Amino acid sequence: MLDRENAIRLKFRELYGSDQGLGLTRAPGRVNIIGEHTDYNQGYVLPIAIAQDTVVGFKPNGSRRVNVHSMTMEESASFSLDETPSGEGPRWVRYVAGVAAALQDARIELAGIDMVIHSTVPVGGGLSSSAALEVSCALAFPSAAGVDVERKKLALICQDAENKYAGMRCGVMDQYVALFGREGAAVKLDCRSLEHELVPLSTETAKFVVCDTSIRHELASSEYNKRRQTCERGVQEASRILSGESVNALRDLEPGDLSGLETELDPVTFKRVRHVVTENARVLEAARAMKAENYIALGVLMDASHESLRDDYEVSCPELDAMVEIAWSQPGVYGSRMTGGGFGGCTITLVSSDHVDSLCKNVALSYRERTGNVPSIYVCAPEKGAEVISPAF
Ligand code: GLA
Repeated sequence: MLDRENAIRLKFRELYGSDQGLGLTRAPGRVNIIGEHTDYNQGYVLPIAIAQDTVVGFKPNGSRRVNVHSMTMEESASFSLDETPSGEGPRWVRYVAGVAAALQDARIELAGIDMVIHSTVPVGGGLSSSAALEVSCALAFPSAAGVDVERKKLALICQDAENKYAGMRCGVMDQYVALFGREGAAVKLDCRSLEHELVPLSTETAKFVVCDTSIRHELASSEYNKRRQTCERGVQEASRILSGESVNALRDLEPGDLSGLETELDPVTFKRVRHVVTENARVLEAARAMKAENYIALGVLMDASHESLRDDYEVSCPELDAMVEIAWSQPGVYGSRMTGGGFGGCTITLVSSDHVDSLCKNVALSYRERTGNVPSIYVCAPEKGAEVISPAF
């Protein structure tokens, strides 16, 4: 961290003059163990915060402007706190300006700041680089203005920023786990009540390996928004069909309701609904398996999640399927699935610790052979959530 802090300070001095009294915040990326496309259906998710993170160096500048430089993108931008974000300019700036606007929409008074951003979360790689950026900014802005905002509120503000100002109707999982992640524990979040339980997760005898396909399909966000719409249609139809029950979100359906819906819903809507309903049930079982350190059971649930995302929710892609199939064929693997929104990005594999090295080697080779792409591979453990490292003064 010291090297990084020094690099940020150096850049800050170069761009804005003195770095005396520099404030620092950080927020991690995340990987979801199970519970995909359930968050915006008010269901359950089970992610962990990871070591890769985004650090923001900031100082009030006595104006109403925000001047920001990204060391990762090697780009600078500037915007006024008094203007609605235009959506113009580099994509990453939308997240920074979006968070400032969403904080102000929530009636939090901000002051202009100078900022330098440094991130180790691979951009657009399915490890939630956007939430890491949003959350580190959402800690920096209020800190610079001398206000304290409750963390749950910050998670919702960051989600709002992405929904309103970046055009992605995401759920709250990524922002929430960036704020509430803990070392040594997965976060079992109920996305309806916004209450979470920390599920202890030892990575001694088994480890999570994240493999980045290095593929980013353009249609990811348009297809994501389409899935949300289909789920909303599913809720309306299901509450009409199951007239005795109150169905406010797909979360309210149980696996036992599915047979009554199959003949009534159009086939695509039914498949989407079936994914969400079965995935919610899998998250609850997975949390129990994790507590019991039953990796075999957890792995089976991860495999089933992948099949459901591939066949029912249809958000996988050939590269993700190839990566998962390669992992499935490796010794010591308990389970493997795509993780995150889909259409590229990463897979997550649970493997016994003594097979981690062979898995990493074989996946790298076989994936390259099968697709011609070079993957990035990370061994991940649950890390702590976002923090104000030091306030600006
Ligand atoms: C993206 C979104 C999350 C969640 C996942 C799918 O990461 O940002 O809110 O919906 O996709 O589980």
